[in-house]
Amino acid sequence: MGNESLMRKILDYGSRADPYPLYAELRKTPVCRQDDGTYTISTYPEVLALLHDPRLTSTHAEEEEAAGGKFPPAFIGMDPPEHDRVRGLAMRQFGPPHSPRLIAELRPSLEMSAAGLIDAFPDGGELDLVDSFAYPFPVTAICRLLGVPHEDEARFREWADKLVASIDPRPGEDPSVRLQDGLETKKELAFYINELIDSGRSDPKGMLTTLAQDHEAAGGPLSRLELVVTSVLLLVAGHETTVNLISNGMLTLLRRPDLFERLRREPEIAPRLVEELLRFEPPVQIIPRRGAITDIEIGGITIPEGSVVALMLASGNRDPQRFQDPDRFDPDRPDVTHLGFGSGIHSCFGAPLARMEGQIALTELVRRLDNPRLLEDPPPYRTSAVLRGPRHIPIAFDGVRP
Ligand code: HEM
Repeated sequence: MGNESLMRKILDYGSRADPYPLYAELRKTPVCRQDDGTYTISTYPEVLALLHDPRLTSTHAEEEEAAGGKFPPAFIGMDPPEHDRVRGLAMRQFGPPHSPRLIAELRPSLEMSAAGLIDAFPDGGELDLVDSFAYPFPVTAICRLLGVPHEDEARFREWADKLVASIDPRPGEDPSVRLQDGLETKKELAFYINELIDSGRSDPKGMLTTLAQDHEAAGGPLSRLELVVTSVLLLVAGHETTVNLISNGMLTLLRRPDLFERLRREPEIAPRLVEELLRFEPPVQIIPRRGAITDIEIGGITIPEGSVVALMLASGNRDPQRFQDPDRFDPDRPDVTHLGFGSGIHSCFGAPLARMEGQIALTELVRRLDNPRLLEDPPPYRTSAVLRGPRHIPIAFDGVRP
């Protein structure tokens, strides 16, 4: 098989359940020009180096143009210095040193939300773990974080679902229709957030309020437009990915009854287990489109200025030069410094929240589900190769423990 066709094969839906042999093939050429001109980077040191390389831009002028300038980029699509200003302002409200307790304080309400979803399961029979748990759970987390009132959560969930649908490419469709749908949804959400701030109904401790009122910070506060765009980013980036973390996690554990039982007996391994999951089955498999702003020499190849560069995070995570026995899921690995949250200036903003959500979700599901069995293996996957995860995980189980 020529290298030319490898990226196509990875993107092909038929490879979704197990793309890892293809990544192994791709790593034979760490920096590889694909037939559409994109350069794929697939080995750990090269991916890491480029994640930190300022010669790659994260901006997407064409997308902004397609949106007719009506929806400006959020900080994930900006370069320094704008990126650092907006991210820095958002970060102040999200974690230490300015807001050290925010994530820890969310824990009890997330535990309650997980318990509530599981309480609503039937007491035995069959169930889809994705629709019944992995999808709804992260929306609650984002709503709490932003301070969206409880009674509005259902509306938020609807927008989240629509945005998800607009991100996922559907084979054979005209992508402009989907992008237009996504833009419409973003606008609806933006109007809602704008009104929510004006109405004063949002939780005063939530980020919508604290960001708007942060007059102390240098370069702050965010403008209203920046605030709205940032909130939409947090919803999209924080929802999509966490669904996959939970789904990939349950799938992995249901395939490994020894680890399922171990997590039930030793819930304290949850943090290490989630970290290994982010290496083994990373929810964001690929950062698909960075742009070379100048020629870049790496891995003995020159990537020409103007090229699109795809950073293959999931492939780097299975690089045998970096991780011993990389295809084995092993929560006892001594060093699991993975690429699942990216690295460098764009490294995942929500990582502390995502980790906590993953730990709570897996610990609670494992503790309360009595004798769960996978009904389909592999389960059906979502279409996207970039944000990869099961669309459904049908299981049978004997009951729900208190
Ligand atoms: C398991 C769940 C998650 C995974 C695997 C994940 C993964 C990632 C990755 C790989 C990036 C880097 C993107 C790039 O370099 O272009 C990123 C960025 C980002 N993530 Fe996450 N993420 C997760 C959850 C979250 C959550 C819960 C939030 C929000 C609360 C969030 C907010 C963001 C934001 C805002 C960025 C952009 C950071 C920047 O550009 O400076 N993520 N995430």
